[in-house]
Amino acid sequence: MTTASEAPLSSEELDERERLCRALLGSAGRIAMDGYAKLGAGGPVVTMKGPQDFLTETDGQVEEHIRKTIAAAFPQDGFLGEEGGGAEAKSMWVVDPIDGTANFMRGIPHFCISIAFLHSGRVEIGGIANPASGEIYFARRGRGATRNDREIRVADTRAFDRSMIEFGWSSRLPNSQYLDRLAAVWELGVNVRRSGSGALGLAYVADGRSDGYAELHINSWDCLAGLLLVREAGGVCNDFLDGEGLMNGNPVLAAAPGVAAGLSQATGIPLPAD
Ligand code: IPD
Ligand code: CA
Repeated sequence: MTTASEAPLSSEELDERERLCRALLGSAGRIAMDGYAKLGAGGPVVTMKGPQDFLTETDGQVEEHIRKTIAAAFPQDGFLGEEGGGAEAKSMWVVDPIDGTANFMRGIPHFCISIAFLHSGRVEIGGIANPASGEIYFARRGRGATRNDREIRVADTRAFDRSMIEFGWSSRLPNSQYLDRLAAVWELGVNVRRSGSGALGLAYVADGRSDGYAELHINSWDCLAGLLLVREAGGVCNDFLDGEGLMNGNPVLAAAPGVAAGLSQATGIPLPAD
């Protein structure tokens, strides 16, 4: 018997959250672009959270806007944000207000807002917006993935010598680990790049621009929306939410099916058995 606390959300309840997520991608994007326009003109102020880990005033403003808007619409839902933190809840939102902050604060238009909605530990809704390019990615579990409302699919790439992946890096792990795995991926003949936004890196896998995204440690706000996009676009992903993934992060691997097994072996990030 299903108890009230185990009950799934109705499709109407998910529809309401989908509408809010779509609206937030637009309104949060406008706040981010206001900050972006003021770069180099006395704002926004940039501070450091750690080595190569930047925080701008705009990150905080965007997260506050998203947090308050969700709390007003769905006071019963939980919230976890990159800047303000939060706690696990049965229904919860996981938000990165600006992913790619190092790009944002340098005036490089490769950054995004990433919003995921989870229920009972499963990602139901994922949205990613790059307000500088005008690209909005959206997925709902079981209903496919879109970029600016057009359906997207992962690439059909099967040969490593024509594949391109993004292999993310952060100062959270020793460089030696990254370099070992990077060497193994290069040995396959893969072209490796690093663009500074894990969320957009995953969105690019979903729409076939890239054949894979891997990172040895990433946080849930960086990747949950992107992982739903990749799955809904026909790609293969690791079980990121395994163990403490939601609150403490985990490795991430998402790829086109034709190169997924090889990338899993080279990066050492296991994929679920078929
Ligand atoms: C970072 C970016 C980067 C990834 C790091 C993240 P931030 O987030 O997504 O691409 O490699 O793991 O921490 O600092 O730009 O929000
Ligand atoms: Ca981030």
